[in-house]
Amino acid sequence: MRITWLGHASVLIEGSVNIIVDPFLEQNPAAARKVSEIPRVDIIAITHDHEDHISDAFALAKRDGATVVAMHEIAVKAGEEGIAAEGMNIGGTIEVKGAKFTMVLAVHSSYSGHPCGYVITLDGKRIYHAGDTGLTRDMEIVGELYTPDLSFLPIGSRYTMDVVQAAKAAEYTRTKKVVPIHYNTWPPIQADPEEFKRLVGDKAEVIILKPGESLHL
Ligand code: NI
Ligand code: MN
Repeated sequence: MRITWLGHASVLIEGSVNIIVDPFLEQNPAAARKVSEIPRVDIIAITHDHEDHISDAFALAKRDGATVVAMHEIAVKAGEEGIAAEGMNIGGTIEVKGAKFTMVLAVHSSYSGHPCGYVITLDGKRIYHAGDTGLTRDMEIVGELYTPDLSFLPIGSRYTMDVVQAAKAAEYTRTKKVVPIHYNTWPPIQADPEEFKRLVGDKAEVIILKPGESLHL
């Protein structure tokens, strides 16, 4: 399975199905690719409806006939646009096209419903995408029940966790590997991923990617 950080919170997972989380490409100054450069996706998972997470989601869903996975209120809006959508809520697990999505808490805000993160199970691997969130001990639930093989954690501060909190989140989630996201897209969320790596220490393997870079699970 190839996993690519596209910049900001956008993550592309290419396995037995292709999944994109929080596509934000066209208006993203740090994006590695435009929507036209994204391969066909089967599923689009949305953590919340702030513009920097949802802006390209519906257009991409229409292009590819992809299924949107989202909080109930966002799924209803997708459905109104004729998009196949699977609504859910925190605590729920659904299976879509062979991929499992468990919706977990994110401590943040949104226009519609409640923001969330996901534990995605695909091809025997568990990937946690935290969405936009502050630090919460609820992340220990992710650690106890799901023990992710790989996590994507925001480190940019101002709107999410900073490097100190995110390092604690890596510990709470017991993740094996972690990629920092949601930083250096704009000046207000500047952060040093090397500082994050130093703070995580031996609790997890920190993999610092540049937008567009991939890793294999
Ligand atoms: Ni947000
Ligand atoms: Mn955001």
